[in-house]
Amino acid sequence: MPHPFNSRLRALLKVLGPSSAKMSSSRTMVALMTQDELKQAVARAAIDYVVDGEIIGVGTGSTANFFIDELGKIRDRIRGAVASSEATANRLKSHGIAVFDLNDVTKLSVYVDGADEINHQGQMIKGGGGALTREKIVASVADQFICIADESKLVDVMGQFPLPVEVIPMAEKAVMRQLLSLGAQPELRMKEGKPYVTDNGCWILDARGLKIHHPIELEQKINEIAGVVSVGLFAKKAASVCLLGSGSGVKTLKF
Ligand code: 5RP
Repeated sequence: MPHPFNSRLRALLKVLGPSSAKMSSSRTMVALMTQDELKQAVARAAIDYVVDGEIIGVGTGSTANFFIDELGKIRDRIRGAVASSEATANRLKSHGIAVFDLNDVTKLSVYVDGADEINHQGQMIKGGGGALTREKIVASVADQFICIADESKLVDVMGQFPLPVEVIPMAEKAVMRQLLSLGAQPELRMKEGKPYVTDNGCWILDARGLKIHHPIELEQKINEIAGVVSVGLFAKKAASVCLLGSGSGVKTLKF
């Protein structure tokens, strides 16, 4: 079990880099935020993008959970939400927020979600939480994708985080061979000794070892492999805005 101070220090060093050692003590107080506190700060900031009276697209994961909790506080201002996973739907309902089926909604102004990695063009790796396909579907009908993340997620080149690929179970090995030929080392995601099963009844391959210099091309190539349900590269439709939590506050990146 890591000591809580060590995890604060790790989050701090990720955000500020080694030069943080030179900070004044008052700045240190501001910067000493845990990763959860950074997530909470961006979740709060995302509320500014919520349009009154509308239905909001909501992502999945620990950062999205903080956003749902914030949304709960202003639930009377919105009509409801479309959820990108069963977990998100349950959390929204627990706050008394109406959950709409996407088939009953034609358009969303905003979709708010976290990311596993985001580059300087707003392109993302998502799916660490296993909800990539529904996230992509809900995001596809939204005018704006608001990404909420702590600064550790911002990268120059994506691929350090294993790229999730959702597959039809019978295609596991066939898709693995294709991913190997693209230079990745794919691994079947497991949970309690069994393949991890998505909300769609499918499996996930996590593709390690990629350096993603051409995200749009790679997204298209992997999408074309027979048996792939979707890939966790959000490149063709990237984020419109990223609210990035840092020791010096929430930064807004526009793409
Ligand atoms: C879930 C996702 C999440 O947005 C991503 O994994 C980031 O999660 P977290 O906010 O917990 O770091 O894509 O499928």
